[in-house]
Amino acid sequence: MNTKKKIVVLGSANVDISARTPVFPRDGETVTGDTVLVSTGGKGTNQAVSAARAGAAVTMIARIGNDFFADIPAKLYERENIDTRFVTRDTEHGTGCALIEVHTGSGENRITVVPGANMAVTAADVAAAEEEIAAADILLTQRETHPDSIAAFLAAAKKHGKKVVLNPAPALPIPDEWYPMIDTITPNETEAEKYTGITVTDDESALRAAQIFADRGVRCVIITCGSKGVFCAEFEKDENGNTVPAFHARIATYRVQAVDTTGAGDSFNGALCTALAEGRTIVDACRFATTAATLSVTKAGAAESMATRAEIDEVYNRFYHSGKTITPMARKIAAEHHLFWRAIEGTGENGTVTEADVRRELKV
Ligand code: RIB
Repeated sequence: MNTKKKIVVLGSANVDISARTPVFPRDGETVTGDTVLVSTGGKGTNQAVSAARAGAAVTMIARIGNDFFADIPAKLYERENIDTRFVTRDTEHGTGCALIEVHTGSGENRITVVPGANMAVTAADVAAAEEEIAAADILLTQRETHPDSIAAFLAAAKKHGKKVVLNPAPALPIPDEWYPMIDTITPNETEAEKYTGITVTDDESALRAAQIFADRGVRCVIITCGSKGVFCAEFEKDENGNTVPAFHARIATYRVQAVDTTGAGDSFNGALCTALAEGRTIVDACRFATTAATLSVTKAGAAESMATRAEIDEVYNRFYHSGKTITPMARKIAAEHHLFWRAIEGTGENGTVTEADVRRELKV
């Protein structure tokens, strides 16, 4: 019997052409890069692969072209056991393509996307997958397919009482009527600012930004903050009908030497949905997903860089089930600096992390 949880992803498929370069070119400048990688990308496909490798059974709703690029995502779907019954070959538009520059020093990227067939995904494509949607444990989408398809997906989720996660990337307009149909929204800091006008710098500003999403109708807000981990907040109605935070938390993450940050947010979203579908709490799901995302930046590429369940579990168990302890003062300082104290050596009794250990790590 297949015990995997079922996720339906509506999203984009791209061919990513990424060049690694020690310096980003300025206008009119030519620079010399080192390696070039042609692989599968597109936020939707990256998230689908992340969810599948994290342990879910994934069905994809997407469009690819009828061109030679299309075989690149098509072969990946097959390798990753992603159900492609609702991936359409579009005869009028080419497969989406992203030109990516990756900085060899920082792993940071710059991306130009030509959407092609992604913007031809229709509400009818979503309607064709209605039975799958009705049978899913959770639904996931982004902002890289045609808005009509996203509206239809959200409406289908509501009709069938399914939780839907919207990763609002890239930060394109979201119609007001979409918000009440979204269970969880997952912007990064930049996107959170674009949608709410609040610059997210700390937990206080993150909560203010989250409150704006909640006032528009979203129940759970997760803001991904790169190396500063993630901020999550859940909202409820008080006795006067006001939308108030029920809970909020910051989940720090461990530091790594980034090779390529392309698709890190996608890794987070896919793994998050797998964990939520498995019934894990929001904090635990965020821990699992940040572990996946941090692992993904240590590898080149987007979809190909996603971590497997075994890789995620190994790191997750090492950090969260190690029984490591920390003193209250050390915890307070670590939290103020978003320091992932579970990864540092404790010199206190039985390896407890002390204030001195935290200060040594922070160099303060
Ligand atoms: O999030 C990273 C993705 O954005 C890349 O794979 C690229 O295709 C663009 O869609």
